[in-house]
Amino acid sequence: MSDLPIAAVILAAGKGTRMKSALPKVLHPIGGMPLVGHILAALAPLAPERQVVVVGPDMDDVADRVAPIPTAVQHDRLGTADAVKAARATLAGFDAGTVFILFGDTPFISAATLQAMLDARRGGAGVVVLGFEPEDPAAYGRLVTDAQGALTAIVEYRDADAATREIGLCNSGVMAIDAAKLFELVDRIGNDNAKGEYYLTDIVGLARADGIDCRAIVADEAELLGINSRAELAGAEAQWQARARRAAMDGGATLLDPATVYFSWDTVIGQDVVIGQNVVFGPGVTVADNVEIKAFSHLEGCSVASGAVVGPFARLRPGAEIGEGVRIGNFVEVKNATFGAGAKANHLSYIGDAEVGARANIGAGTITCNYDGYLKHRTVIGPEAFIGSNSALVAPVTIGARATIGAGSTITKPVADDALALARGDQRELSGMAAKMRQRLKARKDALKSK
Ligand code: UD1
Ligand code: CA
Repeated sequence: MSDLPIAAVILAAGKGTRMKSALPKVLHPIGGMPLVGHILAALAPLAPERQVVVVGPDMDDVADRVAPIPTAVQHDRLGTADAVKAARATLAGFDAGTVFILFGDTPFISAATLQAMLDARRGGAGVVVLGFEPEDPAAYGRLVTDAQGALTAIVEYRDADAATREIGLCNSGVMAIDAAKLFELVDRIGNDNAKGEYYLTDIVGLARADGIDCRAIVADEAELLGINSRAELAGAEAQWQARARRAAMDGGATLLDPATVYFSWDTVIGQDVVIGQNVVFGPGVTVADNVEIKAFSHLEGCSVASGAVVGPFARLRPGAEIGEGVRIGNFVEVKNATFGAGAKANHLSYIGDAEVGARANIGAGTITCNYDGYLKHRTVIGPEAFIGSNSALVAPVTIGARATIGAGSTITKPVADDALALARGDQRELSGMAAKMRQRLKARKDALKSK
């Protein structure tokens, strides 16, 4: 059975009413990735042959997000067994192997736990249910086991008697079921219960009656955290961030105040990276070894090469490619721009849609004027160019290698290699004029006072 294929059904048709959101619950993010994306990521190492996300009507945004993984629509929310039936057409022909059933709002399940469930399937179980022992079993369904450790039933809290409610082992909702039996069993599930819903949990009793072995696997409560409200989302985010910080430190990064550093699901941090306080990594950031990201910097969709120093108070936006040993200092914003090795922009600049050559120096207050109100234009700055402070580079424009731009220039035309360009009013000096002016103004003020 070891090489039998895997399929996965992710149930996400619930409205998530308690989120009080126009956005379907499974699209709310943790670490910048929607809940449903976390589950798909946990499944990925198992290389499922088929996957389907069951959504409610009007959840096209979920379909768009998970594509090319297909969605199936459950039209009426009649319970978890009915939701599984909605996946039937998409799974047509998949009748040898294991079908995982997962909940879209339980994002932290690990690939290792799914693997353990698969091992129980290989051991001969037709239905494997993932259980956990929460600190507060509350209203979870309870897993009933016999003396041999076989799972005999799942009883929903509302339908459970006092003795069953004493059971600490709870149903997470996650199951791994023999594909050959799944729909045949699901079709026999009725809705004669407290809620009048078709409970997938009834599959255990039905399978047992057919002589199919059912087993429970136990996982850590932290993996089975479900999200129903904004407060639970925030709690889950905090747990996720704590793990991401720990992973960055285990990977050889120093976090000066870990609790204030925020990562995204895909942040890549090298070794001997030092990250200051209050640094935020949006999606799509790669930081190489030996980089320092100083306090209060915000990075997103960018890469930072070895030896670079960024911040404090720097903003790297999508398309920023920071080369080796580059310095990006305080209040510098970089968007869609490459910085060649050793280039510097140390203070107060906006560099967008640009190419900055190796070892070029961008003076304080330099702005690439990349947008004319309609289109974006590029600025190309050659290697070792020196851009004087407070220069405006009006794109499209090219500054040659080793060229110097005088401070305060507004550059609208290309500048050749090794040239000095000055584009500012010539300085005039009127000797003694300041003293004369002061006298004149003082006299005027005195005349007003004596009136
Ligand atoms: C379910 C389990 C319960 C378990 C608990 C763990 C059943 C009958 N009960 O209860 O034993 O302890 O999860 O959290 O399965 N969904 C649909 N369509 C539906 C109904 C639900 O897609 O018609 C989806 C929801 O979006 C959600 C998941 O199934 O992702 C679970 O549904 P929910 O209503 O939260 O089940 P619980 O009552 O919490
Ligand atoms: Ca629930």
